[in-house]
Amino acid sequence: MRTLPSDGSKAAFVEAMFDRISPRYDLMNRLMTFGMDRVWRRRAIEALGLKPGAAMLDLACGTGDLANEAIARVAFVVGLDFSDGMLREARRRNIGCALVRGDALALPLARASCDAIVTGFALRNFTDLARVFLECARVLKPGGRIALLEVDSPRNALLRVVYRVYFHALLPLLGRLIADRRAYSYLSSSVVYLPCESSLFEILQTAGFENLRKQRLLHGAVQLISGRRAADQG
Ligand SMILES: C[S@@+](CC[C@H](N)C(=O)[O-])C[C@H]1O[C@@H](n2cnc3c(N)ncnc32)[C@H](O)[C@@H]1O
Repeated sequence: MRTLPSDGSKAAFVEAMFDRISPRYDLMNRLMTFGMDRVWRRRAIEALGLKPGAAMLDLACGTGDLANEAIARVAFVVGLDFSDGMLREARRRNIGCALVRGDALALPLARASCDAIVTGFALRNFTDLARVFLECARVLKPGGRIALLEVDSPRNALLRVVYRVYFHALLPLLGRLIADRRAYSYLSSSVVYLPCESSLFEILQTAGFENLRKQRLLHGAVQLISGRRAADQG
Protein backbone atom coordinates (compact mmCIF):
# COMPACT_ATOMS: atom_id res chain seq x y z
CA MET A 1 0.00 0.00 0.00
CA ARG A 2 1.48 3.30 -1.11
CA THR A 3 0.51 5.26 1.97
CA LEU A 4 2.42 3.05 4.42
CA PRO A 5 5.96 4.12 5.30
CA SER A 6 8.85 1.69 5.22
CA ASP A 7 9.54 -0.05 8.56
CA GLY A 8 12.55 2.05 9.54
CA SER A 9 10.82 5.36 8.84
CA LYS A 10 7.44 4.64 10.47
CA ALA A 11 7.99 6.49 13.77
CA ALA A 12 9.29 9.66 12.07
CA PHE A 13 6.51 9.46 9.46
CA VAL A 14 3.81 9.11 12.16
CA GLU A 15 5.20 11.93 14.28
CA ALA A 16 5.44 14.34 11.32
CA MET A 17 1.97 13.35 10.12
CA PHE A 18 0.31 14.06 13.48
CA ASP A 19 2.22 17.35 13.76
CA ARG A 20 0.75 18.28 10.39
CA ILE A 21 -2.87 17.30 11.00
CA SER A 22 -3.06 18.39 14.65
CA PRO A 23 -5.04 21.64 14.02
CA ARG A 24 -7.79 19.67 12.23
CA TYR A 25 -7.58 16.42 14.22
CA ASP A 26 -10.50 17.04 16.61
CA LEU A 27 -12.81 18.29 13.88
CA MET A 28 -12.01 15.23 11.73
CA ASN A 29 -12.66 12.90 14.69
CA ARG A 30 -16.09 14.38 15.34
CA LEU A 31 -17.02 14.31 11.64
CA MET A 32 -15.76 10.84 10.78
CA THR A 33 -17.34 9.18 13.84
CA PHE A 34 -20.51 11.34 13.78
CA GLY A 35 -19.60 12.34 17.34
CA MET A 36 -19.73 8.73 18.56
CA ASP A 37 -16.07 8.73 19.59
CA ARG A 38 -17.13 10.60 22.73
CA VAL A 39 -19.28 7.64 23.80
CA TRP A 40 -16.44 5.17 23.09
CA ARG A 41 -14.00 7.30 25.08
CA ARG A 42 -16.38 7.36 28.05
CA ARG A 43 -16.64 3.57 27.86
CA ALA A 44 -12.84 3.25 27.83
CA ILE A 45 -12.48 5.42 30.93
CA GLU A 46 -15.30 3.52 32.67
CA ALA A 47 -13.47 0.24 31.95
CA LEU A 48 -10.62 1.48 34.14
CA GLY A 49 -12.82 1.63 37.27
CA LEU A 50 -10.94 4.71 38.45
CA LYS A 51 -11.09 5.62 42.12
CA PRO A 52 -10.76 9.25 43.30
CA GLY A 53 -7.10 9.94 44.01
CA ALA A 54 -5.85 7.57 41.31
CA ALA A 55 -3.08 8.44 38.84
CA MET A 56 -3.84 7.75 35.18
CA LEU A 57 -1.67 7.89 32.07
CA ASP A 58 -3.28 8.78 28.73
CA LEU A 59 -0.73 7.11 26.49
CA ALA A 60 -0.34 8.71 23.05
CA CYS A 61 -2.86 11.28 24.26
CA GLY A 62 -2.98 13.36 21.08
CA THR A 63 -5.14 16.40 21.73
CA GLY A 64 -6.23 14.99 25.11
CA ASP A 65 -9.81 13.76 24.62
CA LEU A 66 -9.37 10.73 26.90
CA ALA A 67 -7.50 12.75 29.53
CA ASN A 68 -10.35 15.24 29.43
CA GLU A 69 -12.89 12.47 29.99
CA ALA A 70 -10.92 11.16 32.99
CA ILE A 71 -9.94 14.39 34.69
CA ALA A 72 -13.12 14.82 36.75
CA ARG A 73 -12.79 11.30 38.19
CA VAL A 74 -9.11 11.06 39.12
CA ALA A 75 -6.63 13.12 41.05
CA PHE A 76 -3.76 13.08 38.61
CA VAL A 77 -3.77 12.60 34.87
CA VAL A 78 -0.69 12.64 32.67
CA GLY A 79 -1.02 12.85 28.89
CA LEU A 80 2.00 11.65 26.93
CA ASP A 81 2.61 11.94 23.21
CA PHE A 82 5.60 12.33 20.91
CA SER A 83 3.94 14.82 18.56
CA ASP A 84 4.62 18.45 19.48
CA GLY A 85 1.70 19.58 17.33
CA MET A 86 -0.82 17.29 19.08
CA LEU A 87 0.47 18.37 22.51
CA ARG A 88 0.17 22.02 21.48
CA GLU A 89 -3.52 21.45 20.68
CA ALA A 90 -3.98 19.62 24.00
CA ARG A 91 -2.38 22.54 25.88
CA ARG A 92 -4.69 25.02 24.15
CA ARG A 93 -7.66 23.20 25.71
CA ASN A 94 -6.49 23.78 29.30
CA ILE A 95 -7.66 20.34 30.33
CA GLY A 96 -5.91 20.48 33.67
CA CYS A 97 -3.65 17.47 33.25
CA ALA A 98 0.13 17.25 32.99
CA LEU A 99 1.27 16.98 29.36
CA VAL A 100 4.59 15.35 28.59
CA ARG A 101 6.43 14.87 25.31
CA GLY A 102 7.77 11.34 25.26
CA ASP A 103 7.93 8.01 23.49
CA ALA A 104 5.57 5.14 24.35
CA LEU A 105 8.48 2.75 23.78
CA ALA A 106 10.50 4.30 26.63
CA LEU A 107 8.14 5.93 29.10
CA PRO A 108 9.71 8.66 31.23
CA LEU A 109 7.79 7.42 34.30
CA ALA A 110 8.85 5.50 37.38
CA ARG A 111 8.09 1.82 37.99
CA ALA A 112 4.63 1.26 39.54
CA SER A 113 3.74 4.96 39.41
CA CYS A 114 0.31 4.64 37.72
CA ASP A 115 -3.03 3.12 38.76
CA ALA A 116 -4.37 3.02 35.21
CA ILE A 117 -3.39 3.52 31.57
CA VAL A 118 -5.68 4.29 28.66
CA THR A 119 -4.73 4.60 25.02
CA GLY A 120 -7.01 5.62 22.15
CA PHE A 121 -6.55 4.75 18.47
CA ALA A 122 -2.78 4.60 18.81
CA LEU A 123 -1.91 0.88 18.72
CA ARG A 124 -1.54 0.76 14.96
CA ASN A 125 0.82 3.71 15.06
CA PHE A 126 3.35 2.15 17.42
CA THR A 127 6.39 0.45 15.89
CA ASP A 128 6.76 -2.22 18.60
CA LEU A 129 3.60 -3.21 20.49
CA ALA A 130 5.37 -5.76 22.72
CA ARG A 131 7.76 -3.09 23.95
CA VAL A 132 4.94 -0.59 24.56
CA PHE A 133 3.00 -3.14 26.65
CA LEU A 134 6.13 -4.04 28.63
CA GLU A 135 6.57 -0.35 29.39
CA CYS A 136 2.90 -0.15 30.44
CA ALA A 137 3.38 -3.13 32.78
CA ARG A 138 6.49 -1.52 34.25
CA VAL A 139 4.84 1.81 35.12
CA LEU A 140 1.54 0.28 36.34
CA LYS A 141 1.07 -0.86 39.92
CA PRO A 142 0.24 -4.56 40.30
CA GLY A 143 -3.54 -4.79 39.86
CA GLY A 144 -3.52 -1.54 37.85
CA ARG A 145 -5.87 -1.43 34.87
CA ILE A 146 -5.36 -0.85 31.18
CA ALA A 147 -7.91 0.08 28.48
CA LEU A 148 -7.10 0.07 24.78
CA LEU A 149 -9.47 1.64 22.27
CA GLU A 150 -8.87 0.88 18.59
CA VAL A 151 -10.62 0.45 15.28
CA ASP A 152 -11.65 -3.10 14.33
CA SER A 153 -13.53 -4.88 11.60
CA PRO A 154 -17.20 -5.91 12.04
CA ARG A 155 -17.82 -9.69 12.08
CA ASN A 156 -20.99 -9.45 9.99
CA ALA A 157 -20.00 -9.79 6.30
CA LEU A 158 -22.42 -7.13 5.03
CA LEU A 159 -21.41 -4.61 7.66
CA ARG A 160 -17.78 -5.37 6.87
CA VAL A 161 -18.33 -4.33 3.25
CA VAL A 162 -20.08 -1.12 4.28
CA TYR A 163 -17.32 -0.42 6.77
CA ARG A 164 -14.56 -1.03 4.21
CA VAL A 165 -16.12 1.36 1.73
CA TYR A 166 -16.46 3.98 4.44
CA PHE A 167 -13.05 3.45 5.98
CA HIS A 168 -10.98 3.02 2.83
CA ALA A 169 -12.81 5.29 0.35
CA LEU A 170 -14.98 7.89 2.09
CA LEU A 171 -12.67 8.60 5.00
CA PRO A 172 -9.59 9.43 2.88
CA LEU A 173 -11.87 11.63 0.74
CA LEU A 174 -13.12 13.49 3.82
CA GLY A 175 -9.51 13.76 5.00
CA ARG A 176 -8.50 15.22 1.65
CA LEU A 177 -11.27 17.85 1.79
CA ILE A 178 -10.74 18.87 5.40
CA ALA A 179 -7.27 17.95 6.56
CA ASP A 180 -4.63 16.01 4.64
CA ARG A 181 -5.14 13.34 1.99
CA ARG A 182 -2.01 11.31 2.68
CA ALA A 183 -2.56 11.27 6.44
CA TYR A 184 -6.09 9.95 6.25
CA SER A 185 -5.12 7.38 3.61
CA TYR A 186 -2.42 6.23 6.03
CA LEU A 187 -4.89 6.09 8.93
CA SER A 188 -7.12 3.77 6.90
CA SER A 189 -4.28 1.63 5.56
CA SER A 190 -2.56 1.34 8.92
CA VAL A 191 -5.09 -1.24 10.17
CA VAL A 192 -2.72 -3.81 8.61
CA TYR A 193 -0.41 -3.17 11.57
CA LEU A 194 -3.07 -4.37 14.03
CA PRO A 195 -2.63 -7.93 15.27
CA CYS A 196 -5.74 -10.14 15.45
CA GLU A 197 -7.46 -10.59 18.82
CA SER A 198 -5.59 -13.77 19.83
CA SER A 199 -2.16 -12.32 18.93
CA LEU A 200 -2.93 -9.07 20.72
CA PHE A 201 -4.01 -10.97 23.85
CA GLU A 202 -0.87 -13.08 23.67
CA ILE A 203 1.38 -10.00 23.49
CA LEU A 204 -0.48 -8.46 26.44
CA GLN A 205 -0.26 -11.65 28.50
CA THR A 206 3.45 -12.00 27.79
CA ALA A 207 3.93 -8.41 28.97
CA GLY A 208 2.18 -9.26 32.27
CA PHE A 209 -1.53 -8.52 31.78
CA GLU A 210 -4.43 -10.77 32.79
CA ASN A 211 -8.24 -10.77 32.94
CA LEU A 212 -8.30 -9.56 29.35
CA ARG A 213 -11.67 -8.74 27.87
CA LYS A 214 -12.70 -7.40 24.48
CA GLN A 215 -15.86 -5.37 23.97
CA ARG A 216 -17.12 -4.69 20.45
CA LEU A 217 -18.55 -1.23 19.91
CA LEU A 218 -20.56 -0.02 16.91
CA HIS A 219 -21.21 -3.59 15.68
CA GLY A 220 -17.51 -4.39 15.95
CA ALA A 221 -16.15 -1.39 14.02
CA VAL A 222 -14.37 -0.36 17.22
CA GLN A 223 -12.81 -2.53 19.90
CA LEU A 224 -12.22 -1.84 23.56
CA ILE A 225 -9.76 -4.18 25.25
CA SER A 226 -9.35 -3.99 29.00
CA GLY A 227 -7.27 -5.90 31.49
CA ARG A 228 -5.30 -5.86 34.68
CA ARG A 229 -1.60 -5.89 35.38
CA ALA A 230 -0.78 -9.17 37.12
CA ALA A 231 0.81 -9.16 40.56
CA ASP A 232 4.61 -9.47 40.59
CA GLN A 233 5.83 -13.08 40.84
CA GLY A 234 7.82 -14.18 43.88
C1 LIG B 1 -4.76 8.52 16.21
S1 LIG B 1 -3.92 9.53 17.36
C2 LIG B 1 -4.84 9.26 18.84
C3 LIG B 1 -4.82 10.41 19.78
C4 LIG B 1 -5.70 10.25 21.02
N1 LIG B 1 -5.27 9.15 21.83
C5 LIG B 1 -7.15 10.09 20.64
O1 LIG B 1 -7.77 9.14 21.15
O2 LIG B 1 -7.67 10.90 19.88
C6 LIG B 1 -2.44 8.60 17.67
C7 LIG B 1 -1.45 9.34 18.55
O3 LIG B 1 -0.38 8.47 18.87
C8 LIG B 1 0.79 9.25 18.97
N2 LIG B 1 1.94 8.33 18.92
C9 LIG B 1 2.21 7.42 17.97
N3 LIG B 1 3.35 6.73 18.27
C10 LIG B 1 3.77 7.23 19.46
C11 LIG B 1 4.89 6.92 20.30
N4 LIG B 1 5.77 5.98 19.97
N5 LIG B 1 5.03 7.60 21.45
C12 LIG B 1 4.14 8.59 21.79
N6 LIG B 1 3.07 8.93 21.03
C13 LIG B 1 2.88 8.25 19.88
C14 LIG B 1 0.67 10.21 17.81
O4 LIG B 1 1.51 11.33 17.93
C15 LIG B 1 -0.82 10.56 17.90
O5 LIG B 1 -1.05 11.70 18.70
